[in-house]
Amino acid sequence: MCGIVAYVGQREACPIILKGLKRLEYRGYDSAGVALLNDGELKVFKRKGKVSDLEEFIGNQDTTSHIGIGHTRWATHGEPNDANAHPHYSSSKKIAIIHNGIIENYASLKQHLINKGYEFHSDTDSEVFVNLIEDIRETTKVNLAEAVRLALHEVVGAYAIVVISHDSPTELIAARKGSPLVIGIGEGEYFLASDATPIIEYTKDVVYLNDFEIALIKDGVLDLRTKEDIVQTPYIQKLELELESIEKGGYPHFMLKEIFEQPRSIMDSMRGRLVAENTQLTMSSIREYENRFKNANRILIVACGTSWHAGLVAEYLIEELARIPVEVEYASEFRYRNPIINEGDIVIAISQSGETADTLAALELAKSKGALIFGVCNVVGSSIARATDAGAYTHAGPEIGVASTKAFTAQVTVLTLIAMMLAEKRGTMEKSALHQLMLEMEQIPAKVEKALQLDKEIQAIAEIFKDSSNFIYLGRGLNFPVALEGALKLKEISYIHAEGYPAAEMKHGPIALIDENMPVVVIATKDNSYEKVVSNIQEVRARKGRVIAIVTEGDTVIPEMAEFVIEVPEAHEALVPLLSVIPLQLLSYHIAVMRGCNVDQPRNLAKSVTVE
Ligand code: F6R
Repeated sequence: MCGIVAYVGQREACPIILKGLKRLEYRGYDSAGVALLNDGELKVFKRKGKVSDLEEFIGNQDTTSHIGIGHTRWATHGEPNDANAHPHYSSSKKIAIIHNGIIENYASLKQHLINKGYEFHSDTDSEVFVNLIEDIRETTKVNLAEAVRLALHEVVGAYAIVVISHDSPTELIAARKGSPLVIGIGEGEYFLASDATPIIEYTKDVVYLNDFEIALIKDGVLDLRTKEDIVQTPYIQKLELELESIEKGGYPHFMLKEIFEQPRSIMDSMRGRLVAENTQLTMSSIREYENRFKNANRILIVACGTSWHAGLVAEYLIEELARIPVEVEYASEFRYRNPIINEGDIVIAISQSGETADTLAALELAKSKGALIFGVCNVVGSSIARATDAGAYTHAGPEIGVASTKAFTAQVTVLTLIAMMLAEKRGTMEKSALHQLMLEMEQIPAKVEKALQLDKEIQAIAEIFKDSSNFIYLGRGLNFPVALEGALKLKEISYIHAEGYPAAEMKHGPIALIDENMPVVVIATKDNSYEKVVSNIQEVRARKGRVIAIVTEGDTVIPEMAEFVIEVPEAHEALVPLLSVIPLQLLSYHIAVMRGCNVDQPRNLAKSVTVE
């Protein structure tokens, strides 16, 4: 949450920072600001609203500068308004800070600073941070970098910060703990950002800052140290990201582009891991811990939101195919309930961003109790990817729309491959059945392509239901997590209340909601529970609910009873979630567009939730 960008070099800083902030707007978009240094003068421009509102506010004001910092905010402490927007000045206006994270002991620090005469102009914890730096500097007379370092010893919480000061006009000082920060290294210039997207068009050489590291960029030189002042050698990595992958490529929204990218992103997530012709399944990270996986007592999956839904799909698959008991936990609950974890356990942490604070904390807890931690992440080099013992990346490419789509199907793809590999290693599946599943898995990208052709049909259904106030989504077995995911997609981008339920559970309560105004999306593909779901549809119809059924191509029974039918290609039961979720993504997308909602940046949400 919150995006930060900074620049120092020979170019004009302001346009680079503003462009970078737009790329990071998915991380928060309730206010934005920049601080620029020129001729010893430190200017801050900030505004409630989006980066475009900030640009409008800056207008023709003088922004000449070769060094600056910028921020796009997702409010934690203090409502979104001009005063709470970053950057924050220190009391004397000599120092400015941008901060992503939460300072937990801000109240006591603030009181201490108020007692010393410091004035505060915002409700944020970040303003406390910058005044603390100033206070240390004034009282100990150390230089700015040292004052930052000493301040880090006093704050409790999570942060990625960048600091500039009017009397250190060529210096940027950055530090991180728990919130991401990447440094791009150009020719005599440096770029800092919460992720690599603002950097990619200038340089591919980057250094990911580690927790408790402080970077001082001064006179064109990067000096990296720990919080204990021990000099570190920067580890320079090459970015593999391409610029086109973070642009809309002709689509009206990132979300739609990302929905349509799924044939490729699923294929990329399988590439090199599955060659059905040779009955070959490879995941080097699993091979490395083969015995632990083979003999695992239990697999625990921790995740949040959509990634948690992917975890539920994995639970069904791993238990069914590999016969290992699986438990799926909300990371936020797991971390605080003293869970029982043994050394024979494997914990799989699933996260698109790789930065979700609760998931990170959950895996750290499990690690401390001796479990093997395996990550399924999308963002290369992210905090979760780095904190795990081993892992497999989902190769979905950057996901910029706040509502997760292609990351979900990439996660399910990788988790399905893991379930298949475990089944192979443990001998829990007939060889021929496993081979058949592999062959069918390879066909999934083409089938997703076909499912995407339903777009126009789904748009017409969206038109009919766009003004509904409630939706129910029902599914059984592997389609239950898909129902949850469909409901989440709809509520988060269209603000329509939606509930996902296991279809049979409906009669234990939610059935009371059903009347002639209630759209009920039923995922009723041909699988083990098909007949049962048909009965559930009858129960909805008997109460005049309006059924939109997702069925397998060629179904002749459900069209007789459902008001609307959407056909997805036939597939192996284990692979159906990869297809049945596609119409649900499109339905929520079109409904949200028709309701005039900001699809890529829904209210109150942020793409990466780095606070608990
Ligand atoms: C929903 C959505 C969120 C995320 C959740 C976890 O569309 O995107 O529910 O799935 O915040 O995020 P990651 O996967 O980055 O850990």
